[in-house]
Amino acid sequence: MAFSYPPRLKLAQTPTPLLLMERLSEHVGGPRIWIKRDDMTGSAVSGNKIRKLEFTLAEAIHQGCDTIITAGGVQSNHCRTTALLCAQLGLNCHLMLRGEDIPPEGNLLLDRLADAEITFYSNIEYQRREEELFQYWLNHYANQGNKAYAVPIGASDGIGLWGYIAACEELKKDFEAHNISPKHIVAATGSGGTQGGLTAGAELFNLGTKVWGINVCDDEDYFLNKVSHDLQDWYSRYTKNISSAFAVDELSINVIDGYVGPGYARATDEVFATIKLAAKLEGVIFDPVYTGKAFHGMIKEIERGRFSDSEDIVFIHTGGIFGLFPQRDQLKL
Ligand SMILES: Cc1ncc(COP(=O)(O)O)c(C=O)c1O
Repeated sequence: MAFSYPPRLKLAQTPTPLLLMERLSEHVGGPRIWIKRDDMTGSAVSGNKIRKLEFTLAEAIHQGCDTIITAGGVQSNHCRTTALLCAQLGLNCHLMLRGEDIPPEGNLLLDRLADAEITFYSNIEYQRREEELFQYWLNHYANQGNKAYAVPIGASDGIGLWGYIAACEELKKDFEAHNISPKHIVAATGSGGTQGGLTAGAELFNLGTKVWGINVCDDEDYFLNKVSHDLQDWYSRYTKNISSAFAVDELSINVIDGYVGPGYARATDEVFATIKLAAKLEGVIFDPVYTGKAFHGMIKEIERGRFSDSEDIVFIHTGGIFGLFPQRDQLKL
């Protein structure tokens, strides 16, 4: 192996299964769709964030921190996972949530149950003051005699990237076990860390796949920059862990734009129809914010022939089930 892992906590239920979506693949036509079930990395802590937090929280503990500060939308899966893992590890957790203090449901209900400290900010205020707010709470806890650690949105930075590099080690074994050679891996992109990790990991483990992020917010330019920035951050932090032959600048970052729809956390009726289809044909539950939107985009791209050079294609199910409940009305059941 051309690298060594940094310190890591064992938190996620891994390896997760790679399963064939037989009926759905047939329904769509085109390559066989395999699904990496990272919605099974835990129960309430399920999803993609726990893979990243294995490394991020190990770093925080290594630095002697007792408090974690992080941020996200009011229904953030990342914040929910962080809050519950902090409870599990005996750390304090402070969440800065964008949005209004609504009656607790979905992820927010679980944040409350985990007894995270929560402060709410409007979107505009958060965007304008992000750095200042992290600094404010870091100082606040320092003044109280605590040592806090700031985790960026989605744990997407050079540390969190290890989560999906490690997932590629699993995928390598999955491909061997199923005797498949998919040419494409597709995942939802929200803060870029999953895509960045998969992009580096696919190369480190010689998966022979192209990694595609379907953005659920912002646009292609934003994610080309963000993922490239996270990869550089990863490389410069861990130069000693990585073989000097690894050409981080030459990694190809691939974003499929065009499926954001009405905006972040807002989905079209078509996305809700795809969510129902996957539940009915495969018993797989997607959410309208991330996985449902991205999976819908992937199906559309299959129909357009983007992946027609491959017999098999892999979708990473990054979790997010709790984000479905607050949007139940739009399922029109
Ligand atoms: C369920 C789910 N899927 C996908 C993503 C996107 O992952 P990333 O933030 O690493 O781009 C997120 C978070 O943003 C998420 O909560």
